[in-house]
Amino acid sequence: MQQIDSDKQHLIVDRMGRRFRNLRLSLTAACNYACTYCVPDGKRLQAAAYELSGEEIVRATQLLIATAGIDKVRITGGEPLLSPKFPAILQGIMDLGLTDVSLTTNGQLLPRYARGIIDSGMQRINVSLDTLNRERFREIARSGDLNTVLHGIELMQAGGLKVKINMVPMHGVNDDQILPLLEYALERNIELRFIELMNMGHLQASPAYAQEFFSMEQILDRIGKQYTFSRTDAPFDSTAVRYEIPGSGTFGIIANESEPFCRNCTRLRLSSNGALYGCLSSARSTNIRQLLALPDAEAQVELHQVLLGALADKQSENFQGEVTVMKFIGG
Ligand code: GTP
Ligand code: 5AD
Repeated sequence: MQQIDSDKQHLIVDRMGRRFRNLRLSLTAACNYACTYCVPDGKRLQAAAYELSGEEIVRATQLLIATAGIDKVRITGGEPLLSPKFPAILQGIMDLGLTDVSLTTNGQLLPRYARGIIDSGMQRINVSLDTLNRERFREIARSGDLNTVLHGIELMQAGGLKVKINMVPMHGVNDDQILPLLEYALERNIELRFIELMNMGHLQASPAYAQEFFSMEQILDRIGKQYTFSRTDAPFDSTAVRYEIPGSGTFGIIANESEPFCRNCTRLRLSSNGALYGCLSSARSTNIRQLLALPDAEAQVELHQVLLGALADKQSENFQGEVTVMKFIGG
C-alpha cells in the first residue's frame, strides 16, 4: 500500500502539535478476569457481537500506518490472548515492519502462547499484576491463578522479551504489595509501573474510587521507606514517569491524576468492533468497518477525515475519565 506523502500525514496534527503515532488494537472486549476496578459485579466482559475479522484488523492497521504515520502498535483487549484470532493477527502485524510491536496481557494464557510470541520476534510485553498474594489475586481479579502469570513472565524473559509489569495500587486493598512487587521486579530486571487508579467505568459512580485511590505521592512515600531513587528520563509520549534506583533498576508511575500526560498523547485506539477512538477519556468514536472494503486511495481519503475528528477528541490537559469501561476500548 502506498504511504500518502508525509506532508499530508503531517496535516493530521492539532494545535498542540499532537499527532497519532501509537495505535492500540483491541482484539476482543472479552476478558477472563473481572477485576474490581474494571467491572462492578464480577461479570466478565463479553466479546462484542460484531468483531472485526483478523484480516480487517490487519488491513485497518496498514491503512492507519499509510494515512496517519503510525509507527508503534500495541495489541490489547479485553484480554487479547482470549481471541482465537490472536496468532494470525500477531503474524499479520509483525509482517508490517513497524519499529515497535508489543502486547498488554493479564498473563493468564501466556504459557499457552509463549512459543508463538517469542518466535514472532516481538521484543517486549506488558503484563498486569496487582499482587503477589494468591488469595488477594483472586479477590481483585475474581478469577485466574497467580502462579500461571508468574510462570508466563518467566517464559517471556527466558525468550528474551523485555517485560514490564503494570500494578494498580489501591488503598487498603493491595497497597501493602507495592514494596514486595517492586522487589520482585528489581530482582528480575523487570520495569514495574504503578498506575494511579483511573476514574473509569463503574468507578465514576462509586465511592470506591475516592476510598481506594492511591496517589503518586503516596506511592513514592512508600517506596522511599526502603529505597533511594531519583527521577530519570522517559520517552516524550510515555504514559509513565520513570525513576531510577541506583544500582538496582528503574520503576515507573502512570500518574493519570497527579501528572496527566494528555499534552503529549500520541495514542489512537481501534476497538474490536471497528470503532476508532482518539482519546481514552472520550466516548466519541467513528466506526471504520465499511471503509476497510474500499480501494486503498479512497479508504485513505475517508480515513483522513475520521482521523481529524478523532484528534479533536483528545483532551487538552487533564485526564477526565469516562463511563466507558477501560478494557472495552483497550486499557
Ligand atoms: P509502553 O509502550 O510500554 O509505555 O506501554 P503503555 O503504558 O502505553 O501501555 P499499557 O497497555 O501497558 O498501559 C498502561 C496504562 O497506561 C494503562 O493502564 C493506562 O493507565 C495508561 N494509558 C494507556 N493509554 C492511555 C491513554 O491513552 N491515556 C491515558 N490517560 N492513559 C493511558
Ligand atoms: N484504573 C487503572 N488501571 C486500570 N486498568 C484497567 N482499569 C483500570 C483503572 N480503572 C489497567 C489494568 C491493566 C491496564 C491495561 O489497565 O490493570 O494493567
